[in-house]
Amino acid sequence: MSDAIAPKSTALTDVAALPYLPRDPAGETPAIGLIGCGGITQYHLTAYRAAGYRVLALCDVNEEAAIARRDEFYPDAMAMTDHRKLLALDEVQVVDVTTHPEVRVPLVADALCAGKHVLSQKPFVLDLDEGERLADLADKQGVLLAVNQNGRWAPHFSWLREAVRAGLVGEVAAVHCGVHWNHHWVEGTAFEQVYHLMLYDFAIHWFDFLTTAMGDRRPQRVYASTVKSPTQRVMPALLGQAAIEYADAQATLVFDGHVTEGPLDDVFIAGSTGSLRSFGVDVNEQTVEWNSAAGSFRPTLAGSWFPDGFHGTMGELLCAIEEGRQPTHSARNNLRSLELCFAAVASALRHEPVKPGTVRQLPDPPPH
Ligand SMILES: NC(=O)c1ccc[n+]([C@@H]2O[C@H](COP(=O)([O-])OP(=O)(O)OC[C@H]3O[C@@H](n4cnc5c(N)ncnc54)[C@H](O)[C@@H]3O)[C@@H](O)[C@H]2O)c1
Repeated sequence: MSDAIAPKSTALTDVAALPYLPRDPAGETPAIGLIGCGGITQYHLTAYRAAGYRVLALCDVNEEAAIARRDEFYPDAMAMTDHRKLLALDEVQVVDVTTHPEVRVPLVADALCAGKHVLSQKPFVLDLDEGERLADLADKQGVLLAVNQNGRWAPHFSWLREAVRAGLVGEVAAVHCGVHWNHHWVEGTAFEQVYHLMLYDFAIHWFDFLTTAMGDRRPQRVYASTVKSPTQRVMPALLGQAAIEYADAQATLVFDGHVTEGPLDDVFIAGSTGSLRSFGVDVNEQTVEWNSAAGSFRPTLAGSWFPDGFHGTMGELLCAIEEGRQPTHSARNNLRSLELCFAAVASALRHEPVKPGTVRQLPDPPPH
């Protein structure tokens, strides 16, 4: 289990068994319908097929996209262009809505009204009040609404979170994440036009990780900034950072998206009885380590964010349905991450600290 320092005690052996892997329901899985068959769905479907999940129907307004995904992953499934036809299928109990957020809200609402459990792609909403209304609608309909914040099941994020939850480092007082890599892959894509590329589109996974690592503790203020690097070739600023203040803890998130050589992606968590770290060249290649008075331990983790994170999000929703409880990645839980993200974006625009929860919508870019 360990590729570095062997476990010296039962407690250390237990560390390797933290429940960080995606889970599957014990019984038969309900049938899934997919709305939106764009680029990201190759990871959804790769994960679902490997997990043995049943996808019964695929829908996209672009018929070719629906047929292509159907033919590649679930050749016996139905392909269609009207989501209402998919929602009319009684056997489909879970709907995976993967479109962009601008068109997703009415699709999610229609699915909830049709009595389906829903997994929404991220970012969940651009308006927190709209997100609250969708969560209320799910409750009213007696169904579950979860968000595909798949980074939660990236092996290193998942293991770090579970280590904190298991109390391995005591009370957390500091979380520091740094991502230093080359984000120029957006050149020539639609992402090149996303003004809040760093703190919103990319960093949402880290705001979400921080939210889950801090448990019930709520951030009081966030101070963030973005700036263009002298060597970057795209419109959105590739440098971004956020400092987050809690009543008794602090966190920083640093994104250097212009690094062409020697990328580094790391996390450090300091607690009252130990510390955790994770480091590697990117999100898929990470070494995790726990340090305490009992010693130092590096478990070898299985899997990678893509595609296992997508197994994690659907698996948790299916388990929650089977177990009759809210999923850990419920819409309401995810809104806390979006609160922090929107506040950081506003802070970077205003050059002042912002209280999470006070910025209800993703701020518009500044006028040219
Ligand atoms: N890590 C991640 O989870 C991750 C990574 C990349 C993208 N995303 C998110 O996934 C979402 C989609 O991204 P993408 O790259 O797949 O986009 P995309 O543009 O490739 O695909 C979107 C698809 O939705 C379809 N669509 C639009 N309206 C529809 C409707 N009414 N009914 C059915 N289909 C409809 C489009 O025709 C298109 O095929 C975005 O929110 C994006 O932020 C998440």
